[in-house]
Amino acid sequence: MQATVQFERRANLALITVNNPPVNALSQPVRQGLLDAFRAAEEDARVDAVVLLCAGSTFIAGADIKEFGKPPQEPSLPELVNAIEACSKPSVAVLHGTALGGGLEVALGCHYRIARSDTRVGLPEVKLGLLPGAGGTQRLPRLAGVAKALEMIVSGAPIAAADACEYGIIDELCDGDLAAAGSAFAQRLLAAGRGVRRSGEQRIASVDVDVALLIEAKRAEVRKRSPGLFAPLRCVSAVEAATLLPLAEGLKRERELFQECLASPQRAALVHAFFAERQAGKVSGVPADTPVREIKCAAVIGGGTMGVGIALCFVNAGLPVKLLEVDAAALDRALQRARDIYAASVKRGSLTQAAMDQRLALLEGVTDYAALADVDVVVEAVFEDMGVKRQVFEQLDAVCKAGAILASNTSSLDLNAIAALTRRPADVVGLHFFSPANVMRLLEVVRGEQTSAEVLASAMALGKRLKKVAVVVGVCDGFVGNRMVFQYGRESEFLLEEGATAQQVDAALRDFGMAMGPLAMRDLSGLDIGMAIRKRQRETLPSEYRLPCLLDKLCAAGMLGQKTGKGFYLYPAGSRTPQPNPELAALLEAASQQQGIERRELSAAHIVERSIFALINEGAKILEEGIAQRASDIDSIYLNGYGFPAFRGGPMFYADQLGLDQVLARVREFHQRFGAWWQPAPLLEKLAAEGRTFNSWEPGQ
Ligand code: CAA
Ligand code: NAI
Repeated sequence: MQATVQFERRANLALITVNNPPVNALSQPVRQGLLDAFRAAEEDARVDAVVLLCAGSTFIAGADIKEFGKPPQEPSLPELVNAIEACSKPSVAVLHGTALGGGLEVALGCHYRIARSDTRVGLPEVKLGLLPGAGGTQRLPRLAGVAKALEMIVSGAPIAAADACEYGIIDELCDGDLAAAGSAFAQRLLAAGRGVRRSGEQRIASVDVDVALLIEAKRAEVRKRSPGLFAPLRCVSAVEAATLLPLAEGLKRERELFQECLASPQRAALVHAFFAERQAGKVSGVPADTPVREIKCAAVIGGGTMGVGIALCFVNAGLPVKLLEVDAAALDRALQRARDIYAASVKRGSLTQAAMDQRLALLEGVTDYAALADVDVVVEAVFEDMGVKRQVFEQLDAVCKAGAILASNTSSLDLNAIAALTRRPADVVGLHFFSPANVMRLLEVVRGEQTSAEVLASAMALGKRLKKVAVVVGVCDGFVGNRMVFQYGRESEFLLEEGATAQQVDAALRDFGMAMGPLAMRDLSGLDIGMAIRKRQRETLPSEYRLPCLLDKLCAAGMLGQKTGKGFYLYPAGSRTPQPNPELAALLEAASQQQGIERRELSAAHIVERSIFALINEGAKILEEGIAQRASDIDSIYLNGYGFPAFRGGPMFYADQLGLDQVLARVREFHQRFGAWWQPAPLLEKLAAEGRTFNSWEPGQ
């Protein structure tokens, strides 16, 4: 028997314990160990019932995701679950932590299930581009009904133990020692003469509505809500099979659909996205045992768009925060904005009034730096102006206690220059939040030349506490995300000048999977921001870098995006939904004329290549310069901060999947046709020549 699964006989019970840290994933040794343990229980005449439980912080959290895409190893998970279900002695799974995916399927194979009240159960496979492939789509509808099973399997969202109890997925809640609770439950079963109860043999719970209608409605919903996604429709088909076929045939159909998902590029991309997010937490030069500074109280300087959002991030994580503004009037406005944001959530029903009051009690407005003497971290979010940043950092340096982390939310200034304004540059780090800061998951943690390992480790830990995806980046104009998005935005303006309409550009990229079209996104953040960068570039860029002129025309016409009701689109009466801007056509004609371009038809495929390959080529430069530690960090940034479709894995993974030689061929062609911006990145050339991928590359190779 394998060490990851322990078998112990206690009186007339077999206790089987999985011990495979950190999350008890069902790797091959665990599957084999479980199979052996259930066989041993079956064969041991002294055993009347089996209790299955897990050591550590959680029940089995799923299949071992690292094994996906590799040659299958026996025993397979379906084989294991079928064997567990077939056992002739009653079995009880005792759940705690998270029972997810294959973990829940193993539990569904057991004849009874009890769970500690803090457990969450779910079938999240769809988020990895899969469907539950070990009987989950056949057994869950039999226990919980078709509607609930469809909801859980298609959304992938876990549910609380109490709800699982209500839906018949769990028999009873328990507390205290898991082995004791499981043993007591098993003894009660035996005393009551209750034997095996196989969920696979149960009839589908009757429902009020017509099952076929339910399934069709779900299909229609999936087509509308997740167009282009491979797995969700197959999840529906697998549940449908449970309603039409006997168990053995349903399981066969489930397996076929599972294999289709497993082979899909979307599955590979989504698994990449899963590991990319976790990999981002590993920072070179910052070993896992680096001490982390304790953060009990925070401060934010500047209560504008970003400052208020950042303050709410702290408060939402239960951390008290002091918000500093220039004067009482500015502070009142900032605090009012915070109240308004929460009030909107209360109105929507996503927050209770009591929770709002509790959170606001953690937010204190101040106007005097002396109030910041004891805070553990400060995030500066004042105007993007080095003079103003200087005033702030000099004061912070004077008042903050030794060991306080001094962070800047600057989006374009030199973090090393900011650090040099203080006598403690090792304590200075960039915390680049994305707007709206209390909503967006991405946090770029900017590593200055002198930022200490301890401060970086503390910033990463803080990011996790704020429920952000924190990714370390180096210092350069725009860091990783904005430096790349500049190339993307510039290219969409060129496309407009060459002949596309705003709707065509945005539709092509939305169809590719971007959450928002690039031009609607520009309208949202305000075209004046791009204009300021453009002006700076006109002064500094070498002449071979041609720049579009459309933005100048829009800004000159007062069309700054949503804030003025007009930009690439029209936003009548405060609406946030883009509508065609009838004045744009004339500006496009004028811009094309000024650039000496004859307008032409552009295909959606061309629009996508120009936009996405611009991101990839810049990403390759960023990678080679060491501004990002690894390609998957760039992917995480784009997936969590820029609405890049997760089913494509991020721009660098997408390039890897296309093949870097293909990407390079198009970049070279664009270089010929459109000039200096398209100079191929040396790393792209090198890896394409070697037949390699960005995600397999490491610095120095
Ligand atoms: N397989 C392999 N490794 C896994 C894993 C899995 N299923 N789940 C988590 N891990 C690893 C993570 O990569 C991470 O490793 P490192 O420390 O080396 O980075 C470590 O476990 C801890 O994970 P988290 O940082 O995510 O820890 P957390 O406490 O924040 O969250 C969790 C724990 C809720 C279980 C979360 O990890 C999670 O959601 N895991 C995935 C669950 C899942 O999707 N299961 C279904 C898999 S598919 C399946 O089971 C069905 C099938 O038939 C194929
Ligand atoms: P903003 O103009 O909305 O707010 C700035 C606030 O700082 C104002 O309320 C102002 O009163 C206050 N302020 C100015 N000087 C101050 C001082 N000396 N002490 C205290 N408060 C002072 O600006 P926004 O958009 O919030 O940007 C702030 C910072 O965040 C900038 O560095 C910007 O580059 C960066 N950033 C902005 C993003 C955005 O989407 N707006 C995204 C990411 C970063």
